[in-house]
Amino acid sequence: MTTTAPPDGTGTSTREPVAAEAVFLAAHSSLLAPLRVRPGDVVADVGPGAGAVTVVPARGVGDTGRVHAVDNDPAMLDAVLRSAREAGVRDRVRPVLHDLDDGPPLLEEAVRAVWSAACVHHTRDWGAAVAGLAGLLRLGGTLCLVEGGLPARCLPWDVGVGRPGLEVRLDEAHNRWFTAWSEARPGRVRRTGGWPDLLTDAGLTGVTSRSALVDVPAPLPGNVRDVVLGELAARVDRARPHLADEDVAAWSHLLDPADPAWLGRRADLALLTALTAHRGRAPHPGPTGGPAT
Ligand SMILES: C[S@@+](CC[C@H](N)C(=O)[O-])C[C@H]1O[C@@H](n2cnc3c(N)ncnc32)[C@H](O)[C@@H]1O
Repeated sequence: MTTTAPPDGTGTSTREPVAAEAVFLAAHSSLLAPLRVRPGDVVADVGPGAGAVTVVPARGVGDTGRVHAVDNDPAMLDAVLRSAREAGVRDRVRPVLHDLDDGPPLLEEAVRAVWSAACVHHTRDWGAAVAGLAGLLRLGGTLCLVEGGLPARCLPWDVGVGRPGLEVRLDEAHNRWFTAWSEARPGRVRRTGGWPDLLTDAGLTGVTSRSALVDVPAPLPGNVRDVVLGELAARVDRARPHLADEDVAAWSHLLDPADPAWLGRRADLALLTALTAHRGRAPHPGPTGGPAT
């Protein structure tokens, strides 16, 4: 989770992943709940970040289950283990250093559930990554991908600095930055279907999507305010080449704690966004060993 990695605009992409993940934990937990993780289950969390969510299934699997935490960033895996230790579930979490761009991770066992939030969109070929994750499932297992959703709304339309509509233009510039980043990747495969299509193409059945609202109204508690400001700063940094000079100037006032226009002083800063989870099941074998209908 560095600032060179592409965010999806709804998850954690700041330099303070632990604080950011805490803000999204309730929404993530509600999307994770339908997986019904039970004692003895084996689960994979792919792209766990700092592990705020990883500890939720780790509690659910009990002493006899496991959570394989798969990430290509050793610093993230260290953070996951710290979170797991603090939650008293370190012995249930197996770190797996692996890059999804190299194919699916080689786990020693099939898993009952794969959870992956804001990770697959970092890969070169989303369809191949989803198919690889689906292949980790045992029959009847569930893949749950949190991708897409809505960009966050934090500011009023007119903040009184620069031209109104600053936040919408930041989304647009950030989208152009992400597109350029993605197109520049060697070996990139462009997929035009939506996330549910990718799950269906991977052979999963009963594919459904649902969203969870993240709604923290103004005035924001200090921890949420800091996460919102950190996320805005990270987005402005990445989108800078695609922003008009007047918008860059406005953001530099708004994000500077020494400036009278600093956003941190405002009582009307809010956090409203939605996370979307796409879920599908590896088909059960039918009575004759063939696929069930
Ligand atoms: C934006 S963070 C999401 C963290 C957490 N799941 C959340 O939703 O808050 C993306 C995570 O995916 C990992 N990641 C990105 N690209 C990856 C890849 N190609 N293979 C494995 N992990 C990757 C990052 O290191 C980071 O931990």
